[in-house]
Amino acid sequence: SSAAVTAVRGPLVWFRDDPFLHDRDESFVHIEDGLLICADGRITAAGPYSALRERLPAGTVPVHYPDQVIVPGFVDTHVHYVQTGIIAAFGSQLIDWLNHYTFVEEQRFSDAGYARRIASGFCDELLRNGTTTALTFCAVYPQSVDALFEEASRRNMRIAAGKVLMDRNAPDALLDTAETGYADSKALIARWHGTGRNLYAITPRFAPTSTPAQLEAAGALRREHPGVLTQTHVSENTGEISWVRSLFPERRGYLDVYDHYGLLGPRTVLAHGVHLTGRERDRCAETGTAVSHCPTSNLFLGSGLFHLHDAKDPRRPMLVGLGTDIGAGTSFSLLATMNEAYKVAELGNYPLDAVKSFYLATLGGAQAMGIADRVGSLEPGHEADFVVLDPRATPLLAERASRVGDIEELLFVLAVMGDDRTVRATYVAGALAHDRDAAPVPRGG
Ligand code: GUN
Ligand code: ZN
Repeated sequence: SSAAVTAVRGPLVWFRDDPFLHDRDESFVHIEDGLLICADGRITAAGPYSALRERLPAGTVPVHYPDQVIVPGFVDTHVHYVQTGIIAAFGSQLIDWLNHYTFVEEQRFSDAGYARRIASGFCDELLRNGTTTALTFCAVYPQSVDALFEEASRRNMRIAAGKVLMDRNAPDALLDTAETGYADSKALIARWHGTGRNLYAITPRFAPTSTPAQLEAAGALRREHPGVLTQTHVSENTGEISWVRSLFPERRGYLDVYDHYGLLGPRTVLAHGVHLTGRERDRCAETGTAVSHCPTSNLFLGSGLFHLHDAKDPRRPMLVGLGTDIGAGTSFSLLATMNEAYKVAELGNYPLDAVKSFYLATLGGAQAMGIADRVGSLEPGHEADFVVLDPRATPLLAERASRVGDIEELLFVLAVMGDDRTVRATYVAGALAHDRDAAPVPRGG
């Protein structure tokens, strides 16, 4: 029906393929004056306005965004919604940071009301930043998962999330057991996976906080539920890696722990992977296991510099997406994350161009999560999640953007200077979900 049709007009940018592996012309699409037509939550047409205008149903007037850039909604492949309240916690690296801040905050999520309040703010913050899909950790409590999926459902967002599994090396109030973790995850999969746009992710926190029995149970869940995602952390911090070696001396290394329990493969996203060895990268590529590059977090916690160039080596490319890793990460913005990814790559003498950065933040993330047939692209048939970026969001940005020579240069400026102010509008399933310039709703009284 025409009531469900929306259309937007303006410059369009998206990806057909991975620009780390294919020519720019095969992978990158740019249409200067484009038209996107959406019906019932999906993109039905994307192309030049001049060619598509006659396909607009009678009475559908496109929202015009001249001089903006319309890109697929950003995909955040690693984030902890339950850590929204502890961003910017001073003074420690990973393990101390977990003990001093994270494990304290996550205990508050046994309270469903608190979980609901933070989940609501989290979803709004994603949309303010142009992020329409996120793969997120919850807390150990099933009610923390219910709260997030309920808020995501209210906004019709495509979110993947799961209950943290941890049965050792954390405060008692945060521990489950191999059996309860398995049973609770199974019930949550039945309730949420494929309900609306929600997707479930089996979520062992990381090897140090799960017993072998729990990792075994996580592997069983993965075998029993083929479409479900899996997420955990790997090789983020050198002290963490030594700890894993002492806890699992019979395994060849950190990645091999997950491999042994059947946790690698398509739809598995490992956060960080800063210190993966060459052989571990080979194994990720061979199994189709993805890594989430979280530069703001890796710098904030002093974890190290991710080797993006090696990860995307065309001889054995890994799937890589970008992650904010809130609350060790310092920004919800995938633009700010691209900025830090650029600097980290420069430290390895690898110039990360904006075409590759925007790919990582959109199609690359969707491929990492195994949902590239649905999100991360403006190709017709995909779900109509997209963002309108404003090159004149601030006076300085406007000045800089006025000097660019082409779209790639403009994307680079947006990636380095952009943040939530740059997000003019966010559309979810074809409907306006965030409008930066909308008048604030008056408060009562
Ligand atoms: N490793 C295990 N848990 C966490 C977490 O919550 N954040 C980060 N950055 N790393 C982890
Ligand atoms: Zn994390």
